[in-house]
Amino acid sequence: MSEDALAVYKERLSVYYDELKWLYSELYRDDRQAFSYFLTVLERAFTERDPSMKAWDRLVVSDRQTYRDPSDVGMQMYVECFGGDLAGVRAHLDYVRSVGVKFIHLMPILESPVAHSDGGYAVSDFGKVRAPLGTMEDFRTLAKDCHERGIRIGLDLVMNHTSNEHEWARRAKAGEKEYQDRYLFYDDWSIPRLYDQTVPQVFPHAAPGNFTWCPEQGKVVMTTFYPYQWDLNYRNPTVLNDMTAAMLNLCNYGADVIRLDAVSYLWKKLGTSCRDLPEVHTILRILRIAADVVCPGTLLAGDVAMEPAGAASYFGTPDKPECDMIYNVSTMASIWHTVATRDVRLLRHRVEMDSSLPKSSTYLNFLRSHDDIDWSLDYEFLKQFGIDESAHRHFLNEYFIGKWPDSGSAAGVYDADPQMREGRLCGTTASLCGIERALAQGEQDKLPGAIRLDLMLHALLLTQSGVPVLYSGDEIGQCNDDSYMEDPARKTDARFLHRGVMNWERAERRTEPGSVEQKLFDRIRELVQLRAQHRVFNIEADVWIVETWNDHVLGIGRYYQGEKLLAFFNFSDGEEIAWIDEAEPYVDLIRDRFTEAKAVAVPAHDFVWLLTTFG
Ligand code: GLC
Repeated sequence: MSEDALAVYKERLSVYYDELKWLYSELYRDDRQAFSYFLTVLERAFTERDPSMKAWDRLVVSDRQTYRDPSDVGMQMYVECFGGDLAGVRAHLDYVRSVGVKFIHLMPILESPVAHSDGGYAVSDFGKVRAPLGTMEDFRTLAKDCHERGIRIGLDLVMNHTSNEHEWARRAKAGEKEYQDRYLFYDDWSIPRLYDQTVPQVFPHAAPGNFTWCPEQGKVVMTTFYPYQWDLNYRNPTVLNDMTAAMLNLCNYGADVIRLDAVSYLWKKLGTSCRDLPEVHTILRILRIAADVVCPGTLLAGDVAMEPAGAASYFGTPDKPECDMIYNVSTMASIWHTVATRDVRLLRHRVEMDSSLPKSSTYLNFLRSHDDIDWSLDYEFLKQFGIDESAHRHFLNEYFIGKWPDSGSAAGVYDADPQMREGRLCGTTASLCGIERALAQGEQDKLPGAIRLDLMLHALLLTQSGVPVLYSGDEIGQCNDDSYMEDPARKTDARFLHRGVMNWERAERRTEPGSVEQKLFDRIRELVQLRAQHRVFNIEADVWIVETWNDHVLGIGRYYQGEKLLAFFNFSDGEEIAWIDEAEPYVDLIRDRFTEAKAVAVPAHDFVWLLTTFG
């Protein structure tokens, strides 16, 4: 390392050294050897970071808040589905940019066994891209291309577990104690049974149990998710050291957003739920410091499956930050509940809660992701309307698989019990909104309503404060793909229903006037542009619930620096009135005309964005 580089490294490290040492000792007592190895991990990664990434760091650090800009829209994609391979994704970057996207999140691309992959979330080599997708060098090239176009690129760091075919797991199976210590191995079922008394199950039907028998060693190993995903033991400092090295390596190849997968599960303790324990935050803070020393242009996104107020602790504090962004799972699920019930009261309550969170926090909002929709709604709140949790979950699943006469939706259910009281919902936005069924059954009369619903939900997504993340293909109304059922490795996992291959022929039709693709693509793009043009969408804006005196119509108000927006979303099948009476003159941003904000009529499954400017 040159003298200058060394000086930069030392200066950055000195800012954090005491805190780092303190945090590390908190977890690992006084394990000086492990700590000094941790420091070599940082120094090596810093040395290896190439000048173009160091330039990227300087750019980001000079204006660290840009990712919170209202012009920032993300897109999530599986590389194999979107572009075939990494080079294919590169070839489609103009398309990505044409939607207004400034951040792409690639689903796991690292080596993972074909038969037991969990969509790439069972990693067998953290330093190697899965062969059909390309190489680490291909990833580097893609990342460079993205950065040149002002697009950030994110990867998952699957931290909680490795595949049981990872080298560490293989060596553990072969009897090497050192490698068994990287996992949670038990000689018999006595301790696992104690854990089971307090640890809930993630996939109770698709992958029951939290432990798996390892026949090679005649021992039991902890497997919170699938039996082939072995939980890592973060009480062992070697695990944290090596996983930090894995993260920094991805950052050095160009990843500048790291999605910390299943992060709240990292620390296990007997007698607890093994979720969200204080040590998780210590680990997160250590990772954050590692990134700030080596690659400060990196943003950390926490996959925390909790409602936003509960997940807020994952941001850390202003002087000791942890994640930059956190996924907002609860509002997403509440939106789909509202689609089924046509009753906005829960959603109103959710948006109200979101708007009371500190404006410094950044949530990643979405309508759907690669995962299912887990019906973890606020049942305490719903109780007042006589809604019973189990019956309601059952209703929601049945509604979206299309069993109810007023539902045009076509969904699949994952991890379901035979009565479907616990299942979790799968489907693309278009399929859940009724576009698939209207097209397949030739119900042309139902198509316009389904398209309107899809667009209204996208408008709602873009009205929320935070970073909206589109799922690739949703912008052209991509429908479910049940071909996964022919693949023995995937057929039991209905989440693949909404992870289909991007239909580029359909995408081409976005230029054909009047096509479904054109109607969705053009309008979504227009909404993204409007969001970028108006400061009222700024994340710092005041947000409140507008009383519409109508339980079918959600009203959201936003105000920022002289701009005020009133947004109304009608979830019912007929036209509804938002009973408001505002004095100022407004512009209807979508219909492009002046209007009054008095008793506003909102067509069925449609929305209105009204803007007024002061001063
Ligand atoms: C996360 C991922 C999910 C995966 C799980 C186990 O929740 O989003 O797809 O199954 O982690 O890695």
